Amino acid sequence: MNLFEPFSQRSLTLRNRLVVSPMCQYSATDGLPEDWHLVHLGSRAVGGAAAVIAEATAVSAQGRISLGDTGLWNETQLEAWRPIVRFIKSHGAIAGVQLAHAGRKSSALRPWEGQGPLPVGHQDWLTVAPSALPFDKGWHTPEALDEAGIQGVIADFRAAAQRALAAGFELVELHAAHGYLLHQFLSPLSNQRSDRYGGSFENRSRLVCEVITAVREVWPVELPLWLRISATDWADHEGGWDIEQSVQLAKLVKALGVDLIDVSSGGLVPHVKIPLGPGYQVPFAARIRREAEVATGAVGLITEAEQAADIVAEGEADVVLMARESLRDPYFPRRAAQLLGAQLGAPNQYLRAWHS
Ligand SMILES: Cc1cc2nc3c(=O)[nH]c(=O)nc-3n(C[C@H](O)[C@H](O)[C@H](O)COP(=O)(O)O)c2cc1C
Repeated sequence: MNLFEPFSQRSLTLRNRLVVSPMCQYSATDGLPEDWHLVHLGSRAVGGAAAVIAEATAVSAQGRISLGDTGLWNETQLEAWRPIVRFIKSHGAIAGVQLAHAGRKSSALRPWEGQGPLPVGHQDWLTVAPSALPFDKGWHTPEALDEAGIQGVIADFRAAAQRALAAGFELVELHAAHGYLLHQFLSPLSNQRSDRYGGSFENRSRLVCEVITAVREVWPVELPLWLRISATDWADHEGGWDIEQSVQLAKLVKALGVDLIDVSSGGLVPHVKIPLGPGYQVPFAARIRREAEVATGAVGLITEAEQAADIVAEGEADVVLMARESLRDPYFPRRAAQLLGAQLGAPNQYLRAWHS
């Protein structure tokens, strides 16, 4: 496989294998994306990415990480996404959105306001989780979801997916990574329930599976559905979620209609040691791809064209997602194409810069 070879999933074809990873901009009001989102996401579509995945977009107001999160829990938000989606698509990129619920990590400050939760009395709100266990010292203690609450979360994901479709998105990624609600259910460190949503691997995976099934009911069979997971909590010594369980989960969700596992890691518990380094999560993507026989995305400290090309050429992942490098250079795919001798058209307005 080649980095600039198209990649087909269901009825969609990605023009290459470079995808803009979802990145919260913390710049929405009442969940509404604005001019910033149009320019941010739009310029990366112009930059040549095959798909641009909009940030963790909350399925309910309660599920927001911060007050600045975008949402898809009402029709006004749906309408606000339309022109952004239209622009991304008009520049040849697939428009994707990541649907999310932050669970016990909701009600937090925007990063530039400080680290951690909103102080009590400062527009903070009640958070929910599988169990009443805070993320860390000083964080809100969440309320454990009851059965009706769980059904409500599933319905919120389904309705948000329906709105994503109406807004024109062609790709939905469900966020089950980074210590947010779905990941909180997966990991024994945050899920200490004794009902059918806790305990065994099968029970801890139940909510993710039910969300996928509900979303697949409204998300057309012609369009791909991706799932982002944390392959490990980096807390094996404490009995955390690990790569073996991730492989098992990948097999399960593939059968439910997930087309690609976007393989990240961590975020569930603070203070774990993560062996950061170039492409440090790639081996997880490779193992899941090999053992679960499902398409994967590699992400995390992938910053060079040749590094990305090697990952795809070695069959470690089908696509490469880039976050910070794409913030530094929205035209990364264009530069990579030049460097690797691939052809990537440019918008007419910019042709003189790229083909002189
Ligand atoms: C500003 C910023 C916002 C992010 N927001 C999200 C998000 O909304 N959803 C998500 O799954 N990951 C989010 N991430 C993580 C990235 O998608 C990516 O997985 C991570 O940054 C590692 O990739 P990189 O080394 O290419 O930056 C965010 C990262 C950054 C830098």
